[in-house]
Amino acid sequence: MRTQVGIVGAGPAGLMLSLLLAERGIDSVVVEARSRSAIEQTIRAGVLEQGTVELLDQCGVGDRARAEGARHDGIELRFRGEGHRIDFAGLVGRSVWLYPQHEVLTDLIAARLAAGADIRFECSDVELREVTSDRPVIAFTEADGTRVELECDVIAGCDGSTGISRNSIPASARTDHFRAYPFGWFGILAEAPQSAPELIYAHSERGFALISTRTPTVQRMYFQCDPEENADDWSDDRIWEELQTRVAGNGFRLAEGRIFQRSVLPMRSYVCEPMQYGRLFLAGDAAHTVPPTGAKGLNLAVADVLVLAQALESFYSTGVTERLENYGATASRRVWRAQHFSWWMTSMLHTDPHGSPFDLRRQLGELDSVTSSVAGSTYLAEAYTGWPLSL
Ligand code: FAD
Ligand code: PHB
Repeated sequence: MRTQVGIVGAGPAGLMLSLLLAERGIDSVVVEARSRSAIEQTIRAGVLEQGTVELLDQCGVGDRARAEGARHDGIELRFRGEGHRIDFAGLVGRSVWLYPQHEVLTDLIAARLAAGADIRFECSDVELREVTSDRPVIAFTEADGTRVELECDVIAGCDGSTGISRNSIPASARTDHFRAYPFGWFGILAEAPQSAPELIYAHSERGFALISTRTPTVQRMYFQCDPEENADDWSDDRIWEELQTRVAGNGFRLAEGRIFQRSVLPMRSYVCEPMQYGRLFLAGDAAHTVPPTGAKGLNLAVADVLVLAQALESFYSTGVTERLENYGATASRRVWRAQHFSWWMTSMLHTDPHGSPFDLRRQLGELDSVTSSVAGSTYLAEAYTGWPLSL
């Protein structure tokens, strides 16, 4: 089998890339390990930057995000028991959209399949071969047991943080920049009404909490926990008490309800450099991970593949590889800005388990600076709503 661009992974990066390439007349095949229904049901990100929604619109897949998602013009930073609004619309004239990642994926898969795209779900034993040649190969076993060798011009490694693409770059040819945080997030989905009109990022002596939403009747909430915590050890009452304590103040209470999903997520920052090896290009979580406090992961995956699609367009229309060779350097500028923003939000809002009272007071000083200064809150608003996408 042959294609122009072989894409490993049907997450936001892989599916968006196949769509952007199709718009440019470039063929691709997407090789995915999971089933379509597993992809469409996995709960992950919730926040889309304005630029991401605009790109979905331009590609003809933004209608449902616009109709069923919710525009948020700000967030609340809550500390010392008081809320402080960061007014995105007023500060930078931009907004974000609450629209779940699995719905974005549902829309992308439907659009790609309707256009006749080749997406192979439930593939196993995926291997990348000869990535430094100009005919790299993706070998995989299809759901029916057939072994396939897919010859490509270029391979896009879009298989997330646990995929195989990253490790196809020899350790001697790459640098892994990695930081693990000494805490995780305990995440829940609950059947409850919305407690506040906008997301709440809460700093408290007991640690961070985030109040997010999915629909008017389903709420998404997280609180900082030990990364080794077992989510099943917690009763619903204990979870609600922890969340209520962390957001308490001024008589504010969360609306409670039945908790129907719970998990503990690790928090880490990671960047693989370079993002390219021969004809293999990494994009999205395959190349980098950010802690979710800045809501950047999905948006960064989309930004990477826009740069890659433009570079591939230049390669196919001119035969010149210069833009492709510059892919990593171009994409990593935004990656490191997002790394900084995500690390900054994380370290400003989470309690360091090994920290001192000095650290806690320094965080409050920082939160005061951010919320009481137009300059401070404008940086947050600009970064959260997203820097311009390369065009
Ligand atoms: P993935 O979504 O991980 O997709 C990779 C795909 O590759 C998967 O479908 C996987 O099955 C497939 N795959 C893996 N291995 C193989 C293989 N060997 N062969 C073939 N296929 C393979 N980001 C935000 O922007 N905003 C948020 O609000 C936000 N909140 C988050 C909340 C949580 C709880 C979590 C966990 C993440 C959050 N993120 C958020 C991050 C975001 O979900 C990820 O950054 C995003 O999914 C990255 O997309 P991707 O396409 O690079 O990788
Ligand atoms: C979410 O709704 O899942 C969510 C929102 C904001 C974040 C992270 C996750 O920063």
